[in-house]
Amino acid sequence: MGLSDIIIVFFLAVLCFAAGVLCFYIPFQNLKKQILHLISKDNISSSTSLDEVDLSVPLNNYIQQIKNQIKDQSDRLVFLQKKIDQVAAVLKEVVIILDEEGRLLFHNSQAREIFYLDEHQPTHYTEPVWNGQTPNSVPPLEEAYKNHRTQTKSVYLNEMIRSPDVMDLFQQCLKKKTRVTKDCVFRKKNQYLKSNFQVTALPFFYEKQKTVVLLFYDQTNIKESQQAHIDFVSNVSHELKTPLTAIRGYVEMLIQDLSQKKFDKFEGFLQILLRNCKRMGELIDDLLTLSSLASQVHLEKKRLNTKDITSHVIEQIKPRGRKLHFFFSAPYVMANPRWVELVLHNLVDNACRHTSENSNVHIRWEKMRDRVILKVKDSGEGIPEPYLHRVFERFFRMDPARSREKGGTGVGLALVKQSMEKHGGCVRAVSPKGGGTEFICEFPNA
Ligand SMILES: Nc1ncnc2c1ncn2[C@@H]1O[C@H](COP(=O)(O)OP(=O)(O)O)[C@@H](O)[C@H]1O
Ligand SMILES: [Mg+2]
Repeated sequence: MGLSDIIIVFFLAVLCFAAGVLCFYIPFQNLKKQILHLISKDNISSSTSLDEVDLSVPLNNYIQQIKNQIKDQSDRLVFLQKKIDQVAAVLKEVVIILDEEGRLLFHNSQAREIFYLDEHQPTHYTEPVWNGQTPNSVPPLEEAYKNHRTQTKSVYLNEMIRSPDVMDLFQQCLKKKTRVTKDCVFRKKNQYLKSNFQVTALPFFYEKQKTVVLLFYDQTNIKESQQAHIDFVSNVSHELKTPLTAIRGYVEMLIQDLSQKKFDKFEGFLQILLRNCKRMGELIDDLLTLSSLASQVHLEKKRLNTKDITSHVIEQIKPRGRKLHFFFSAPYVMANPRWVELVLHNLVDNACRHTSENSNVHIRWEKMRDRVILKVKDSGEGIPEPYLHRVFERFFRMDPARSREKGGTGVGLALVKQSMEKHGGCVRAVSPKGGGTEFICEFPNA
């Protein structure tokens, strides 16, 4: 290669370098100009020599400004989230939010009462946060969510609750993209009996995010009280209809006998009529007592002498040959005279009616710390274990025909229970296998 060739190559190399410098330098200068314009329109005039400007100061200020704005926004979000938590915590409903895969994103504190949730499960699903990575190592948002999901422990709807109905509702809401409501029956956490919930699913779709809000309203108590009301009306009707049917039948027979001038059975028929009229009267009295007790908000209590009230009640009961035994280690009880007499009357009357002649009935008033205990024990047929709770239900009878025969209305023990609860106390029945029943009433003596 000759000298002229070397000069040409050198010249071309210089030209290329100059072109390269121009290519990079000019856009950089333009960028610098734009940044200056953006950052500090007022301070830097377009005629300012770029070489004289130290870019690091306004850029730092600008970055600081952006940082402050981000902090401000994130503080606002935290505040908003706390507000949502507070509102959600006072709702009667259980609220949960799920993503489209059924993954739990949010729940209020009430959710822990019905769902199988880890104690440490945070109420909010934590969003993936920027952890100081350099900008080119920050993955796109979708990817960040995906990574986050695989790294953190997720809880899914089907793990929290075993209810095909709720799963179905959730799927329907996602598919139809509208609000759906359904009555669902399922077991709450650690509960044996199923509860009745009204569940509403609301879709909340935002850009690519699909979420569903589920609201659970526990209507078990409402359903139970509706059912109790229906049962009560039908029981009362039945209880009144039974003596009424008997009265009607015997009156018809009386009329027939009268027309045939047959008077030999008259007295017997009239006795039956009287007995059934009495039964109806007793039932109505018990029902009125029940409603009067239910309507009392606050019982007026007095310091009562246990011996006095016991002897007063015994005077009204016919022990029918049963031997009554008394024991008084608690001389006084704080109670309402009318309602404590009702308790004692019903328990002693039952004890006498469910034991045979000459058997023993024990009535004990005992003091135990801050409580006064009344115990009524008999040596009768006893109550089988499954019925020990049920005997306190209105109109419950183990043997309806026999109990009616013995003269009860089926409301007595329901009255005892209600009265004890109004006193702030309680009652329970125990019946050992060998026979006999003991009713134990606890009065708070404060
Ligand atoms: N001391 C008792 N021994 C055995 N069974 C009893 C006793 N007391 C109550 N029961 C059972 O509980 C049921 C409900 O009692 P109660 O409410 O007083 O109604 P009633 O006496 O009018 O039948 C009775 O029908 C009877 O079957
Ligand atoms: Mg009774």
